[in-house]
Amino acid sequence: MGVLVSGAGTNLEALLRSCAGADFPAAVGLVISNRPSAGGLRIAARHGVDAIAMPVAEFGGEVRQRDRAMGERFRETGVGLVVCAGYDRVLDDIFLRGFPNAILNIHPSLLPAFAGGMNGVEAALAFGVKVAGCTVQLLEPGLPDGGPVVLQAPVPVFEDDDVDMLRARIHEQEWVLLPEAVALWCHGRLSRDGRRIRILPPSQRGASGVRAAASVPV
Ligand code: GRF
Repeated sequence: MGVLVSGAGTNLEALLRSCAGADFPAAVGLVISNRPSAGGLRIAARHGVDAIAMPVAEFGGEVRQRDRAMGERFRETGVGLVVCAGYDRVLDDIFLRGFPNAILNIHPSLLPAFAGGMNGVEAALAFGVKVAGCTVQLLEPGLPDGGPVVLQAPVPVFEDDDVDMLRARIHEQEWVLLPEAVALWCHGRLSRDGRRIRILPPSQRGASGVRAAASVPV
């Protein structure tokens, strides 16, 4: 896996913990952040994983150039699956097209609710929903957060919740959901028919990646 992070990196840490488990089918080869100050870079270093910052300022402010270079770094590392574990920028199509059906993103809402921003938890609380949650989706060109849903987990909203309390409860679910989605992808247990992703039973494990459902080309 190649992992993209922008913030504290608790989802990266959850992935690295999963990777240390005997049966986990993936390893993190490289962590890239758009922010040199991202806590995720320090977490990667602590785990002995290569980690680099690629701020857009180093590419003359050109997001497309930076994202092209990120894709190249991942490919040089032999990355087959990219995981956005709290990455706070919209990826350029040049990056997205380079990893078809092979970019997983964690988002702190039940998509399509509260899509397209970094304030999904604040927005859910302000809207007054009774159930919040998180989503793992595939990223692809198109609307931000518009890719097909792989897994979702609901999280109850309690009357006295503030943003930090709700965010903490959502985070706990994310730490389970993201490694689970990675394992399903690696075991070839995701089958895609248009926007719909089916989880195949363990007995139908195949080669890693997302399979096309029989009738529809991906
Ligand atoms: C997570 O809530 C994730 O859903 C969102 O950004 C946050 C990252 O948290 N995309 P962390 O950096 O993994 O702690």
